[in-house]
Amino acid sequence: MLIKVPNVLTQEQVAEARQLLAEAEWTDGKATAGHQSSRVKDNMQIPQGHPNARRLGEMILRALSANPLFMSAALPLHVFPPLFNSYSGGQKFGTHVDNSIRQVPGTNHRIRTDLSATLFFEDPEKYEGGELCVEDTYGVHRVKLPAGDLVLYPATSLHHVTPVTRGARVCSFFWIQSMIRDDGQRSLLFDMDLAIQRLNQDHPDHPSATQLTGVYHNLLRQWAEM
Ligand code: NI
Repeated sequence: MLIKVPNVLTQEQVAEARQLLAEAEWTDGKATAGHQSSRVKDNMQIPQGHPNARRLGEMILRALSANPLFMSAALPLHVFPPLFNSYSGGQKFGTHVDNSIRQVPGTNHRIRTDLSATLFFEDPEKYEGGELCVEDTYGVHRVKLPAGDLVLYPATSLHHVTPVTRGARVCSFFWIQSMIRDDGQRSLLFDMDLAIQRLNQDHPDHPSATQLTGVYHNLLRQWAEM
């Protein structure tokens, strides 16, 4: 399941983010790549633990925890501290799969990467290329979103970023360990949540809404890993 979450950040937050990102020192993105992906990865990153990255990461995590669509789609247990990358001058990231387990820097804590997330900081018309292409059994999904929007996709999928031939593509990327490990189960819960919300809107106080809400929570209780 690939889900677009619009307006995770306001335009004011995007402007502040661009400022913080412009002031930071950028280094070779191979620093956080695994063995396979380091051979196909060509971009720049802000070092983990950089004060601007930390500040911006906290802003993103606050925004996500207040975002009902993100919470419903991801059912997050742990979110990896956001990282930041930039592609320009033909840089790209060839087909790869993200590492399944990641240690949170400076801690003993490891998270299982169930979902990958990319948050965009530049408007799509400001750069050429830089599409995130995610492969699944339905084909290849090409994603390039407005500044402030985020895409969530299963970390199990092969994906790549096409070469940026004009301007710069600046994004945050990170991973989520979900309370629901399985993408199929998570998709079912998400669909059900959306249907219950629509039912509540169209038929307020319908008794079936309460019953369905009960079913949703009982499924979540059965499937959730904490
Ligand atoms: Ni990746």
